[in-house]
Amino acid sequence: MKSVIRTGIIFALLLFAMACSPDSPQSTFGTHGPVAELQKNLFLFTFWIAVVVFIIVEGGIIYLTFKYRKKDNKLPVQTHGNLKLEITWTIIPAIIIVIIAVPTVLAIWETQVMPNEEESLVVEATGHQWWFEFKYPTEEVVTANELHLPEDTDVIVKITSQDVLHSFWIPKIAGKLDMVPNHENQLYIKADDPGLYYGQCAEFCGIVHAMMRFRVIVHTQEDYQQWLNDMRTPPAKLVSGSDEDEGRKLFVGNCSMCHTYDSYKKGAYTKEIDSQYNRWEEWKKDKENSAIVSAPNLTHFGERVTLGAGIKENNYDNLVKWIENPDKIKLGTRMKNHASIYRDDNQLSTEQIEQIAKYLLSLKPSTESSATYNK
Ligand code: CUA
Repeated sequence: MKSVIRTGIIFALLLFAMACSPDSPQSTFGTHGPVAELQKNLFLFTFWIAVVVFIIVEGGIIYLTFKYRKKDNKLPVQTHGNLKLEITWTIIPAIIIVIIAVPTVLAIWETQVMPNEEESLVVEATGHQWWFEFKYPTEEVVTANELHLPEDTDVIVKITSQDVLHSFWIPKIAGKLDMVPNHENQLYIKADDPGLYYGQCAEFCGIVHAMMRFRVIVHTQEDYQQWLNDMRTPPAKLVSGSDEDEGRKLFVGNCSMCHTYDSYKKGAYTKEIDSQYNRWEEWKKDKENSAIVSAPNLTHFGERVTLGAGIKENNYDNLVKWIENPDKIKLGTRMKNHASIYRDDNQLSTEQIEQIAKYLLSLKPSTESSATYNK
């Protein structure tokens, strides 16, 4: 009895906690894309059938329990099987399964057939422990932990992984699909409304699986073109001797082996693909001690909404804390385990960490820049 009460209390608290988050950024009910909408409707359809079955079956059990409960010591009539009943309760579930199967199969067809690549936006999404890499092969743009999409556009996401199994999921737009190393899966998605959405890894992939997130920023067509332009625009030149410039030198000396920061340059895209591939190869050779590992591209990091793959708001205080000790925010990052600045003999001073943070936050497309490169 005690355990029943305890379970009841936990369940009630859980319901209460869910009611407390009106935003519910990872709820699959407030959908903003046709794929998520289709999945939600399929779920609700099945759910209401299950509710009807539940009420009939539970109602029957409760009714019969009371109607035929023990009233005297007479033995009830003993029966062995009832052919009519057996046939009825075999046929009814079979019919229910067929009713559910039809829209399910139709939905599978609808989401599995990819639109024409020529007329769609193709994005390559790669899972890493524990962050997401996004590449736009046609546009030659690369970013990390932030997927930028134009509204009302067919998008084909080509999904893979560079280490273990992950899963790509944007609850309000579409999902989920496994990210498998050495294999490409394709997911069709489309976003209806401009806005900020949450993405989440949905396959247990190691110690901070739950903290492997990303943000999806859906733009109007015009804003999306602006974003593409921004990604090809260099940041402003730093004043020599400024904290930002000192931070740049420290970053180049200590961090740029793994983090690219200048993919706005012409030709940088192919270079980044090679670099990231080589980093992966290095890491595979010696997973414990390699000095180089694949790491998020930090081009225009100052524009990012979050840091640590969707974990903290991207601001100066959080960034300083992150560089000081990423383990305090996200246990087990490769940065903490592999970067030389965390070795006892090579630690940075607080001032140096602050300079790096200032430098990273200065990485934004320059408004004065005339050096925009156009493909
Ligand atoms: Cu990546 Cu869970």
